Amino acid sequence: MNLENCILAIDQGTTSSRAMVFGTDSQIIAMAQQEFPQHYPNDGWVEHDPEDIWQSTLTVCQQALAEAEAKGARVVGIGVTNQRETTVVWDRKTGKAIYNAIVWQDRRTANDCLALQQAGHSQQVRSKTGLLLDPYFSASKINWILNHVEGARQRAQNGDLAFGTVDSFLIWRLTGGAVHATDITNASRTNLYNIHQQQWDPELCELFEVPAPLLPLVKECADDYGHALASLLGKSIPICGVAGDQQAAAFGQCCFDPGSIKSTYGTGCFVLLNTGDKAVDSANQLLTTVAYKVQGKIHYALEGSIFVAGAAVQWLRDGIHIIEDATQTESLATSLDYEHGVYLVPAFAGLGAPYWDPEARGAIFGLTRGTTNAHLSRAALESVAYQTSDLLKAMADDGVTPNVLNVDGGMVANNWVCQFLTDVLDIKVQRPQIMETTALGVAYLSGLYLGLYENTEALTNKNKIDTTFESTMSADLRNKLLCGWKTAVECTLGFKR
Ligand code: G3P
Repeated sequence: MNLENCILAIDQGTTSSRAMVFGTDSQIIAMAQQEFPQHYPNDGWVEHDPEDIWQSTLTVCQQALAEAEAKGARVVGIGVTNQRETTVVWDRKTGKAIYNAIVWQDRRTANDCLALQQAGHSQQVRSKTGLLLDPYFSASKINWILNHVEGARQRAQNGDLAFGTVDSFLIWRLTGGAVHATDITNASRTNLYNIHQQQWDPELCELFEVPAPLLPLVKECADDYGHALASLLGKSIPICGVAGDQQAAAFGQCCFDPGSIKSTYGTGCFVLLNTGDKAVDSANQLLTTVAYKVQGKIHYALEGSIFVAGAAVQWLRDGIHIIEDATQTESLATSLDYEHGVYLVPAFAGLGAPYWDPEARGAIFGLTRGTTNAHLSRAALESVAYQTSDLLKAMADDGVTPNVLNVDGGMVANNWVCQFLTDVLDIKVQRPQIMETTALGVAYLSGLYLGLYENTEALTNKNKIDTTFESTMSADLRNKLLCGWKTAVECTLGFKR
């Protein structure tokens, strides 16, 4: 194990904050994790207390550093990756947020976005940002905060407030307010960033009523983000790798070549396909986004975003209490056969790609007197594969048909999930040796900036394949199951509360 030149990777996710220390041989030397509370103050609203985000992050960093140092590791850089789109606005003098973080899953601005759509702005937003005009992204959330916190708009115009996605908020706190910056992948998720011109777009800022003085400086993914203070982490450490969590996972999966594709199963599920230096436009409701920018070179991606994957299992555990632990789902799932007939459409936060319906809500179909916890658990796991199938179909309709999918994230530790994925998708599913690809991705980015790796070619094949899953399902059965899913989604979309 290489203990010199280690990187502390901060992975601030939707449900937990994690910190990991990696050696240059990609080995995990230390790891700490802390869950934090979710707040649902209204129908479709999801918030985090920014102090919970900060305190949990600081605690896990301190724990992981202490563990790594006890093993003799020398940490030389920090990488930051984060739940994307989640919006924080804070006071530049005090560093305190003026409102809770509005989480990416939050749908409160659905009507505001609809009004902009009806006024004919969808194409303008799409052509500049590669995104849809949807409450998922940060811009309408910033506007909501400025409209609902007294005096906020004036303070924003005066330059007294700062906006950031979570990476930016953490960098601000870690550097003691010295740096207000974000990376290009996070900027590309705001609905305010022109991904072709690579700059904040004044027209979009006007459209969403976001004053320019709020916005952070946008940097490359491997870049100088200042130093974390010694008073926080015991020694001053440069922050030099930043990327949104899905882009970081693609980097950690070494998806550097155009055509390489990964799917991450965390709270949600996000499929990213590297399209090289071309920003490919989707005719099928996929997003065009920045994959990474390193050493002056930009790579774009096509993205399919599913809002609920692991969150469905969390709902089984914390919402309806039918399991105690996520690992139970594997044995529950295998206790049934394929034609058990229950479908769960987990539209808890609306439906993302390729449907994009913020008003949709979750539904269960096929209940009988014989339905048990096992059916619901299995239907939750299956919904993840079916949603991935919808994304790959949209990609195929856009002319891209991968024959291998690289998977990662907490859910794919479950072998049953991987096998069902390959069965439903009818392509090979590959699981890497290091499944912590999100944190690994920003460790690689920091290492690139620090010169520990010369370029992305030097990283290729570092995270080798551990297991390959191949389909054993008949075409008839696959079609039958997918047909049932299609009907379930159509009924869900047709139902409005
Ligand atoms: O776009 C939202 C995404 O970044 C959240 O990721 O890992 O919390 O599911 P995760």
